[in-house]
Amino acid sequence: MQKTYSMIKPEIVAAGEQKIGEILAIINRAGFRITGMELRQLDRALIEDFYGEHRERPFYGELCDYINSGPVVALRLERENAVAALRELIGATNPADAAIGTIRDLYGASLQNNAIHASANADDAARELGLIFGQ
Ligand code: CMP
Repeated sequence: MQKTYSMIKPEIVAAGEQKIGEILAIINRAGFRITGMELRQLDRALIEDFYGEHRERPFYGELCDYINSGPVVALRLERENAVAALRELIGATNPADAAIGTIRDLYGASLQNNAIHASANADDAARELGLIFGQ
């Protein structure tokens, strides 16, 4: 069983429990077990570290402000082939390019406010789970 990290982003959490519940139901229906879940305001320093690979990108500062703007739902998910399966379930980074029915198609508002994060590969999943859940 593979583990991956996911994170429901602040604009969805700010919109209320209904959207959080709908997204968790989609994830659960796709066969993931939720083995860690926390509603949490992430420290700015942790966010900077988490998104460190984007440090040189022009959107980095705004991205860190945005993730810092309110609590997120941090998730540790388990399934066979979890990393790739979750990437497919959430859709392309830009909701405008996301396949119909994916989470970003249904809930994403913009390239930045794209509703949910999922680890890009198994190494990132281990790094991100370590940063957020300490394991
Ligand atoms: P995420 O999958 O969490 O990874 C990096 C985040 O940066 C991305 O989702 C978006 O929220 C945000 N972002 C903003 N602008 C861009 C961009 N031009 N390319 C990629 N990601 C971007």
